[in-house]
Amino acid sequence: MTDKRKIDPATGTETTGHSWDGIEELNTPLPRWWLWTFYATVVWGVIYTILYPAWPMVSGATAGLLGYSTRGEVAAEIARVDLSNADLTESLVNVDLGVLKDNEELHRFATQAGRSVFAANCSQCHGAGAGGVVASGYPNLLDDDWLWGGTMEDIAYTVRHGIRNEDDPDARFSEMPPFDWMEEAELDATVHFVRSLSGLEHDAGAAQAGAEVYADNCSACHGERGLGDREMGAPNLADAIWLRGGSHEAILRQLKAPRMGVMPPWQARLGEAEVRAVTAYVHGLGGGEAAVDAEGAAAD
Ligand code: HEC
Ligand code: HEC
Repeated sequence: MTDKRKIDPATGTETTGHSWDGIEELNTPLPRWWLWTFYATVVWGVIYTILYPAWPMVSGATAGLLGYSTRGEVAAEIARVDLSNADLTESLVNVDLGVLKDNEELHRFATQAGRSVFAANCSQCHGAGAGGVVASGYPNLLDDDWLWGGTMEDIAYTVRHGIRNEDDPDARFSEMPPFDWMEEAELDATVHFVRSLSGLEHDAGAAQAGAEVYADNCSACHGERGLGDREMGAPNLADAIWLRGGSHEAILRQLKAPRMGVMPPWQARLGEAEVRAVTAYVHGLGGGEAAVDAEGAAAD
C-alpha cells in the first residue's frame, strides 16, 4: 500500500491516507491533557510495581520495595485487637465462672466472643440459632431442658470434654442398652407409658402394663417419674421436649436400637478462654441455670 497521506484542506489536519468511497479519515492528534494523563499513569504504574507486590513469579510474586502485604496488614490488625483484649482475655481465663455474670464488662466481652466461637464451631450441629436438630439428636440449647446440666460449670465441662467421644477420657459418658430382647407387646406397652408421662395420646390399659416394665428397666436412668438424670445424661421423658422425637415410632426405635449422641471435646482446639466465652454465650441463650451454691460450683 502506498502512503497517500496529505493535508485535508477543510480542517488543515493530516489524513491517515485511508479512504472509503471518497470519504477520508483525519489523523486528529490526541488532546494534550489526555496524553499527559496517559504518560502520568504509565509512570505511576512503573513506580507502583517497584514499591508494591506486583509481578507474578513461579512461586509468589515480586515483593516490592516497601515490603507491604495484605496478609501482613491483617496479621497486624489481629495482633492489635488481641493486645487491646489481652487484659479481658486474661481475666476471663481466671474468673470463677459462677460469678462471671457479676462483672458486666467481662461478661459482655465473653458473650460477644462466644457468639463467634459458636458460629464457627458449634452451629453445624446445634444450628445457627442453637435450636438443635431433633432428627439428628442435636439438642436445643435455647431451652432450660438440660441433659447434662445447665450451670456455667456444667456447660463448660460438656464443652471441654465433649460427650461419648473417644478423644477425651473425661468425656461425659452413658449408654442406654437396647431392649430388642423384649416382646413386641411389652415394648408397645412401654411406649404407651412413656407417652403418658408427658400427656401425649396413649392407651391407658397398655400404659398401665408399661409402667411395670418401665419401673424394672428404665427408672434407674430416667427416674421413677421419668424426670431424667443428669448424672447419666438421661433425658427427662415427662416434659414433652424430645431429643429424638416423641412419636410412637421414634420412641419404639430408641428402645429397640438406642441412638446415642456424640459430641467432640473442645478444650484442646479452642483453649480455655474460648471455651469460657462460648460457655457464657450458651448459658446466656435463655436456659442458663445459676450455680446451686458457691462451693458446688467451684468443685469441677
Ligand atoms: C458434631 C456435632 C456437634 C458439635 C460440633 C457440637 N456439639 Fe454440642 N452436642 C452434640 C450432641 C450430639 C449433643 C448431645 C449428646 C447427648 O445426646 O447427650 C451435644 C450436647 C451439647 C451440650 C449439652 C446440652 C445439654 O442438654 O446438657 C452443650 C452445652 C453443647 N453441646 C454445646 C456445644 C458447644 C458450645 C459447641 C461448640 C464449641 C458444640 N456443642 C459443638 C453435638 C455437637
Ligand atoms: C443406662 C441408662 C438408661 C436406661 C436403663 C434407659 N435409658 Fe433411655 N436413654 C438413656 C440415655 C443416656 C438417653 C439419651 C440418648 C442420647 O443422648 O442420644 C436415653 C434416651 C431415651 C429416649 C429418647 C428421649 C428423647 O428425648 O427423645 C427415650 C424415649 C428413652 N430413653 C426411653 C427409655 C426407656 C423406655 C427405657 C426402659 C425400657 C430406657 N430408656 C432405659 C439412658 C437410659
